[in-house]
Amino acid sequence: MTEIDRSGDHTPVPADWTYAPAPESRDVVKLRERYGLFVGGKWIEPSETYETISPATEETLAVVGQASAADVDSAVTAAREAFANGWSSLPGSERAKYMFRIARILQERAREFAVLESLNGGKPIKESRDVDLPLAAAHFFYYAGWADKLEYAFPNRRPKPVGVAGQIIPWNFPLLMLAWKIAPALACGNTVVLKPAETTPLTALLFCDVLRQAELPAGVVNIVTGDGRTGAALVEHEGVDKIAFTGSTDVGKAIQRRLAGSGKKLTLELGGKAANIVFDDCALDQAVEGIINGIYFNQGHVCCAGSRLFAQESIYEPLVDKLKRRLETLRVGDPLDKNTDVGAINSAMQLEKIQELVESGRAEGADIYQPPCRLPEKGYWFAPTVFTNVAQSYRIAQEEIFGPVLSVLTFRTPDEAVEKANNTPYGLSAGVWTEKGSRILWMAQQLRAGVVWANTYNRFDPTSPFGGYKESGFGREGGLHGLEPYLRFDE
Ligand code: NAI
Ligand code: MG
Repeated sequence: MTEIDRSGDHTPVPADWTYAPAPESRDVVKLRERYGLFVGGKWIEPSETYETISPATEETLAVVGQASAADVDSAVTAAREAFANGWSSLPGSERAKYMFRIARILQERAREFAVLESLNGGKPIKESRDVDLPLAAAHFFYYAGWADKLEYAFPNRRPKPVGVAGQIIPWNFPLLMLAWKIAPALACGNTVVLKPAETTPLTALLFCDVLRQAELPAGVVNIVTGDGRTGAALVEHEGVDKIAFTGSTDVGKAIQRRLAGSGKKLTLELGGKAANIVFDDCALDQAVEGIINGIYFNQGHVCCAGSRLFAQESIYEPLVDKLKRRLETLRVGDPLDKNTDVGAINSAMQLEKIQELVESGRAEGADIYQPPCRLPEKGYWFAPTVFTNVAQSYRIAQEEIFGPVLSVLTFRTPDEAVEKANNTPYGLSAGVWTEKGSRILWMAQQLRAGVVWANTYNRFDPTSPFGGYKESGFGREGGLHGLEPYLRFDE
């Protein structure tokens, strides 16, 4: 605790402003020792299990199921029955009621979910509290609103549900990705089998409790935990009509190959290597905040992270100076501390990948900067990092690092910025910082990216479609566009 200086005749003030921790209590979360698989509204025993941990402390949080192909089959069967026995023919206004309930319960239990998300995934509590949870609830609210208006959304096209949706999600935004996937599927009258990522199953398992509270009919949503094998079993299952996947480009490609010719619908939301482009006429301090948010938000475990900074040469030096100074103020540590800016790296595997890529950056000749910061001894951590003197050919400028690592490059003219920004196999997002509205519009037209942010970064809203070009995948989530993958328009 900070000491209070009571000497002299002035009002007592703290003697120094050393940091005092502000941890959020874990008591709000009641973990079970063991979780089964949520199938047909019941918990079923998995044949195999594994332990899920907290990446900040490496402590075991719970034992969860590793669903086998047979378990996946039970889940798909339950989803098929629920689809046929009422859910798909329920009036949209009735489906909406369940979804509004789910949204409200998420809001009511937001604190519990936020703490659990930070515990299991390592992200700062202020992010799970202020971003993941409000947005997850907002997605259910938003899509609940469409459930009885599909005929108006797609006039004269007779929208119908697709059937059973198999949904595979990653570990960077576990509950939010669940909401992105489940909300539009239910709004359109589909049933769901969802597989959370292996390192972050707990909020999806807690969500089953929300489904029961909302009295959603059994089998409409089924949750099967497990690793890639479980995901593959879901992709391969004959009874699944649509696959929605968010994750790595490699797995996305494998899924696309596997489904070719099967007639199953597919959407893929894969990686990115976004350009965050800063022109010399921008509000520089605001841009620095946007750059920091763009790459250090969620430890950089963000598919649309602004991982390549393009600075116009005329402001390169002041920009990099400001950036380094700002970096020193980032607080790295306990995800449950309300002041933490950068939490734990999600897994040992991800940490290794980051370390390997950072090593390649050094070896190829880039200059590395990391602010002085003391990292906790247990758990998985990586200091916020900036690379300058980066060539476009370096791996750190080409490959998705998915960690708190920024590569700084430069440009002189808008044309050069566009050419360099588009020089990537990905095309998920981009940022543009300039005072000129006309330049923003021109850049947005030239950039091959699904989302272009102007004078802001990492802004999300359920009404706005999100998705990629090129190796970032195809299909859109969010907005009206996000309904289409869950509908068929035949007859
Ligand atoms: P991943 O693509 O292996 O995992 C994503 C999800 O796919 C998980 O639920 C996983 O269990 C599942 N999965 C894995 N193999 C599968 C298969 N053969 N069939 C069906 N489902 C399968 O990603 P991973 O290994 O966790 O991370 C590797 C890299 O991928 C990261 O370093 C990052 O660069 C990128 N990534 C990108 C994400 C994004 O949001 N675009 C999210 C997660 C990872
Ligand atoms: Mg993988």
